[in-house]
Amino acid sequence: MTVSNELASLEQEAATALESVGDLAALAEWKSKYTGKSGALTRISRSLGTLPVEQRPEFGRRVNQLREYLETAYATAESRLKLAAQAAELAAERIDITMPGRTPALGYVHLTNQVLGQVQEIFGEMGFLVTESPEVEFDEYNFSLLNFADDHPARDMQDTFYLDLPDGAPSVLLRTHTSPGQIRVMRERAPEPLRILLPGKVYRNEQVTVRSEMMFHQFEFLAIGRHITMGDLKGTLAYFAERMYGPGTKVRLRPSFFPFTEPSAEMDVSCFLCGGTGCRVCKYAGWLEIGGCGMVHPNVLRNGGYDPEEFSGFAGGFGPERIAMLKYGIDDIRGFYSGDTRFVEQFG
Ligand code: DAH
Repeated sequence: MTVSNELASLEQEAATALESVGDLAALAEWKSKYTGKSGALTRISRSLGTLPVEQRPEFGRRVNQLREYLETAYATAESRLKLAAQAAELAAERIDITMPGRTPALGYVHLTNQVLGQVQEIFGEMGFLVTESPEVEFDEYNFSLLNFADDHPARDMQDTFYLDLPDGAPSVLLRTHTSPGQIRVMRERAPEPLRILLPGKVYRNEQVTVRSEMMFHQFEFLAIGRHITMGDLKGTLAYFAERMYGPGTKVRLRPSFFPFTEPSAEMDVSCFLCGGTGCRVCKYAGWLEIGGCGMVHPNVLRNGGYDPEEFSGFAGGFGPERIAMLKYGIDDIRGFYSGDTRFVEQFG
């Protein structure tokens, strides 16, 4: 075979071989076989020296032409194979983005705090300022300063958890109601007139049942000023009841007893479900009992730093859990704090 024929058949062979190259590894082999340092093309070009001098330029030109051709073919094949490899990889790693994602669990406000939020809004509209007072409280603030006599049976109704302190230290407990906040606020602000709302946790040493928990919430409202009467208390309660339970809700006060108010009352609202005609929610009474209230006792005013000859006031303490239970027909208070989210989620 002449050198020229050899070049032609090499071109033919390399082109055919390239057609069956299927991946980059095979392409690398093809390269070393045909255009590499010890490949076919290099081998043929060495025969330059065996040719007569006048044929050498033409031969050199053809060798270069063939090298260029093979290198271009190589580059084309390489980019085709790279694209194919990439496409195969993408196909293998394909993710189905039409699948619905996992919804992140969003938090929500606990039912008790929802009610407290509403209460703060309603009392806020009447000019009551929200403040807080400690949950760990002196016995004195929880009872004595609120006019509980040391041996009064009303103390027994509010047993709680006492702190173990060294002998001689004042008695400290977990507050049984938000009422001690009254003393703290009065002592801070006397002799200014005030309107205060005190929401927070309270504690009782109680058997936990469907009706009672050993931790629950209350909110205390307190207004002190000159010429404040029971009419102001009733007007405040009437506004609260209509905003909380809907227009037309009526309020009723029943005589009661608390050491820190005189007179004292239980506040009832007309049943929001039946409107007063009697149903399952109000146990056919037509009224729902909401909480205690009354006119601040002169001893309490004095303990807070107000002269009862000059100042008077009203106060009350209600439970948001009870308000929520009546509103939503919840028959077991333990759901609120058992930690079972299936309960609280219903109101999220
Ligand atoms: N502290 C009372 C309780 O926990 C509720 C209460 C009644 C608060 C009458 C008051 C009030 O401020 O005037 O049972």
